[in-house]
Amino acid sequence: MSSTEKIVLTGIKPTGTPHVGNYVGALKPLIEQSQTQKTFMFIADLHALNLIHDATQIKQHTYEITAMLVALGLNLDNAILFRQSDIDEIYQLNTLLTNVTPKGLMNRAHSYKAAMDKNIANGDDVDAGINMGLYTYPILMSADILLYNSDIVPVGADQKQHVEFARDIAGYFNHIYGETFKLPTPVIGRDTGLIPGLDGRKMSKSYDNTIPLMAPEKELKKKIMRIITDSKTPEEAKDPDESTIYQLYKHFASETEVAEFAEMFRAGGMGYGTAKTILFEKINSVLSDARMEYERLMANTDEIEQILKRGAERAKPVAMETLARVKKAMLG
Ligand code: TRP
Repeated sequence: MSSTEKIVLTGIKPTGTPHVGNYVGALKPLIEQSQTQKTFMFIADLHALNLIHDATQIKQHTYEITAMLVALGLNLDNAILFRQSDIDEIYQLNTLLTNVTPKGLMNRAHSYKAAMDKNIANGDDVDAGINMGLYTYPILMSADILLYNSDIVPVGADQKQHVEFARDIAGYFNHIYGETFKLPTPVIGRDTGLIPGLDGRKMSKSYDNTIPLMAPEKELKKKIMRIITDSKTPEEAKDPDESTIYQLYKHFASETEVAEFAEMFRAGGMGYGTAKTILFEKINSVLSDARMEYERLMANTDEIEQILKRGAERAKPVAMETLARVKKAMLG
């Protein structure tokens, strides 16, 4: 990597089986970007630890996400895809950074504040269920970002504050120890709008309304047929923008197809059952090749391990170089 080229890095937390909402909002843009842009991309399994205390689950989700990215066409030459916990330097940099991170900064983290607010609303102790992994989450994330000398960090809007914290922490460090870290900049992805789930609310694991991205064909169909609609008759004209079916279709079909589908809603004469079948066929055709490759990889997890290992081998020298520089600055 030449020194003038911007270093891009992003992490994906393996806390669930990716669904259509994750695909549209996060995975698809990363895959597109990997066709032209070198990126450090890691499965943030250490970040999942503050929530999931079950190794089997974390490993399973790590495999799922890796297999999905690869099956959907991630460019593995440009994307250095690795598992966060495979690089030992991350634990060390995390420890070192705790010493320049003001406690007050952590108190302000949205993720931690949200957990406290929830406790307060439930009448529980403010700290109930909050471990130090959650509290110091932004330090670990800063370590990720700074370990690989990142300039640009593409994230969802919910993670912007964490990247700003990484920038703050880098600044504190440089102020004390001299110019050591570059200051990273968050880049918030194009707003894909709300991706509705089966019940019309935002698609989210916590609402139990998701469409798993790599569901077998039968399950995919069953889920799509279960999308909640209003009670308009087939003959009635419908507003596509109010329909979950259309909202989902938009992210899988071409512009012309989307325009045609919208017209069919407006014209009347198309029942929701038909609309759902059209949606199912579209999603199924877009994903069917990837699903076959995904299933093949999930049946050969050694191959997934190999992919992650190759990524780790590429990431490791960068991590070693940074850590050595930081230790020298702090400890001589
Ligand atoms: N915290 C991010 C999330 O929950 C995942 C993540 C971990 C990350 N480390 C990162 C993202 C570093 C960008 C850069 O989605």
